[in-house]
Amino acid sequence: MSQPVEDLFKKVTAHAKEYGFIFPSSEIYDGLGAVYDYGQNGVELKNNIREYWWKSMVQLHENIVGIDAAIFMHPKVWKASGHIDGFSDPMIDNKDSKKRYRADQLLEEQIEKYEKKGKTDKAQDLQRAMNQALNDNDLQAMHDLIVEHEIVCPISGTRNWTDVRQFNLMFSTQMGSVADESDAVYLRPETAQGIFVNFLNVQKTGRMKIPFGIAQTGKAFRNEIIARQFIMRMREFEQMEMQFFVKPGTEMEWFAHWKKSRLSWHLALGTPAEAYRYHDHEKLAHYANAATDIEFKFPFGFREVEGIHSRTDFDLRNHQELSGKKLQYFDPETNSNFIPYVVETSIGLDRMFLLLLCNAYREEMVGEGDKQETRVVLALPPQLAPVKVAVFPLTKKDGLPEKAREIMNRLKLQFRCHYEEKDAIGKRYRRHDAIGTPFCITVDHESLQDNTVTLRHRDSMQQERVAISELEQRIGQQVRLSSLFEQMSM
Ligand code: GAP
Repeated sequence: MSQPVEDLFKKVTAHAKEYGFIFPSSEIYDGLGAVYDYGQNGVELKNNIREYWWKSMVQLHENIVGIDAAIFMHPKVWKASGHIDGFSDPMIDNKDSKKRYRADQLLEEQIEKYEKKGKTDKAQDLQRAMNQALNDNDLQAMHDLIVEHEIVCPISGTRNWTDVRQFNLMFSTQMGSVADESDAVYLRPETAQGIFVNFLNVQKTGRMKIPFGIAQTGKAFRNEIIARQFIMRMREFEQMEMQFFVKPGTEMEWFAHWKKSRLSWHLALGTPAEAYRYHDHEKLAHYANAATDIEFKFPFGFREVEGIHSRTDFDLRNHQELSGKKLQYFDPETNSNFIPYVVETSIGLDRMFLLLLCNAYREEMVGEGDKQETRVVLALPPQLAPVKVAVFPLTKKDGLPEKAREIMNRLKLQFRCHYEEKDAIGKRYRRHDAIGTPFCITVDHESLQDNTVTLRHRDSMQQERVAISELEQRIGQQVRLSSLFEQMSM
């Protein structure tokens, strides 16, 4: 059933809460801005996405290994990486509403407004002027553009703005008991630096030969000025990153390789190819010589899910300089040392989660005549679904629950299963459609006679009679992660 996109997003967020995927953090205290908790179904889906990423990166690549670095790192890490001096957004406050905005986003919204009204020239002029101001880090020019284009605060409706200031996005805290400046430590804003500082440890102990990669998943923290669109932009989120260390001069080949390989990881999930696009960066960060975003068409437009960046030797070189420790690779073929170049793949786990929810949410009319009703189904890839199989006895008597439990006890050794005996079968099917369970098994009186059950498929709603002895194999071939790997190009 097609529906307005803004409704779709509202429905997805409401559904995520109603069915135990995502809750606002500390909800009984009215929540905490842009921080969320994953519920009983959310945690399963999140774990499955992480496992899909981890196995496709680490298990399937002989030359990629994983680590798990601490969230706290030496404060000098963030000096070397450029985050202390440069990881900031330009912000502006409205003096009447006391609300804070990102100056560049106010301007971007104004550009969108011009485009919608067909004022293409104005949109282009503003885009050019904004790019120039961002390039020159000219905060006064950004302020002047906001004033010149008469941008008003969406809350107060006034143009009573402060100056534009830079706002560092890192959270800091104190380590140890003395609240002294020198003790300040940061919550990491990206997981990548834990990989860079361990580059030699892993290379030496793992006897890794270039080209090789180090992968890591874990929490990252950013004090985002405006956090919007549910779990799209959070203050505490999870990244899945891989740094691939290569010989200088070969980085463009590897950049092209990872660009293709990462998109193929996404497409193996069955998401339509037209919902994805690459966005190659024209304006590159000072440390990068190529960068692209993999963008997905969310209900509110195309947005970045993953970045692929050719980061040159920027990070290793800076860490080498600031720490005074050599971070070089000895190449036995040429008998020489060099600082490797790095191609990074960086995907937000929460954003991938949101992508899957938006892509999976469907409302369908089912049934005939008076019996027509809407069913809400999450058509998640079966391999990632939180629950793989639901087992139902048709009634609560005649030995059916015992038989159902017997089947469940065998299947649960392999798959995440749910057992349910409350309500009519139709209602139980609907509950599992709503959380994306790909298979439901119903045990009836016939099952006691001939050891067969009804196997019901989520998407087609088709039901078939299947021997109990065949269940593991029938279900397994559709829900195992390995079925996704066969479709990927690596
Ligand atoms: N190490 C490179 C790096 O951190 P990034 O583009 O800043 O690059 C990578 O982040 C990915 O992390 C993004 O593509 C996005 O999926 C995710 N991400 C970044 N900030 C986020 C936030 N505030 N909330 C949720 N996900 C975020």
